[in-house]
Amino acid sequence: MTPLLTVDVHVAPDARRTALEADVRAGLTAQPKTLPPIWFYDERGSQLFDEITRLPEYYLTRAERSILDRHAREIVDVSGADTLVELGSGTSEKTRLLLDAMAGRGRLRRFVPFDCSEEILRVAAKDITDAYGVEVGAVVGDFHRHLGEIPRHGRRLVAFLGSTIGNLTPVERRRFFTDLDVTMGHDDRLLLGTDLVKDRSRLVAAYDDAAGVTAEFNRNVLRVLNAELGAHFDPSAFDHVARWDEANRWMEMRLRSRHRQVVEIEQLAMHVAFETGEELHTEISAKFTHGQVEQELWDGGFVVERTWTDPAGDFLLTLARPYC
Ligand code: SAH
Ligand code: AVI
Repeated sequence: MTPLLTVDVHVAPDARRTALEADVRAGLTAQPKTLPPIWFYDERGSQLFDEITRLPEYYLTRAERSILDRHAREIVDVSGADTLVELGSGTSEKTRLLLDAMAGRGRLRRFVPFDCSEEILRVAAKDITDAYGVEVGAVVGDFHRHLGEIPRHGRRLVAFLGSTIGNLTPVERRRFFTDLDVTMGHDDRLLLGTDLVKDRSRLVAAYDDAAGVTAEFNRNVLRVLNAELGAHFDPSAFDHVARWDEANRWMEMRLRSRHRQVVEIEQLAMHVAFETGEELHTEISAKFTHGQVEQELWDGGFVVERTWTDPAGDFLLTLARPYC
């Protein structure tokens, strides 16, 4: 009998370690210092993100959920899919609305959650196997490197929700769409969630909440370096900074050193010096216009079939198909 739940790990521990070492060596010797956002998401980082999604200031998750609440059935019908692939799936909580819609139409064959964070992926995959009794083929991977490892059976709806696409730089986004396009068949569809440009004060509040959860999420990357590389960061020696960059239309998160300090990273035999007020760049979160989403998808090989927004016009879901 085929087991209902399988977990394929494409980031072996040594490959993960090599990638972390390379990112830390390059990022902490660069000017300005930078770390890619993938390293936020150890078990604690994933839990902190989950908390963020329930904060009053963080409208993104509620806005996207409200679109799925209203339109999941239509999305599923237009896509014609029997297999749901989810990139950067996290807890897959909102995704249940798509799974419900597919199950309701009697054509949910398979769910393929894909995430870099093995801990959260295993929990989410098991919960969904138990709840839906459906075949779940979870994939642990990095969407910058392992899109080609995603199984190609069935007629697939590939969901990339939460505006995680906005955490990629424009160059990374172009490459991501092009790489994804190559893996998709004519009948496959992409469902992309993007946060829309809006009032600066709402954006800044969403990334600098009153309870300080986002600040802890931001500092978590330092805890990951401490745990995995024997670094000696004192997270409380760094202030959380959330800034709107008008020219690039993205939110930026940084960690600002409260004083002059030298931090040892034992396992890399590195010492990293920070000046007072020096900022380490940890994340961008791009905000989009409808036209920009359509253009970026087109440049990556996709044509838009249909779009949906929430009543306030905060968030956009786009269904697209490969045009070749
Ligand atoms: N899709 C969920 C979770 C978004 S949080 C939602 O909409 O709420 C971003 C998710 O992407 C996290 O679960 C994180 O572990 C995952 N992630 C971040 N960078 C990744 C990468 N390079 N490859 C694969 N997954 C990644
Ligand atoms: C996962 N990603 C879309 C979140 C965002 O809004 O950019 C991560 C996050 N960063 C700060 N708060 C939430």
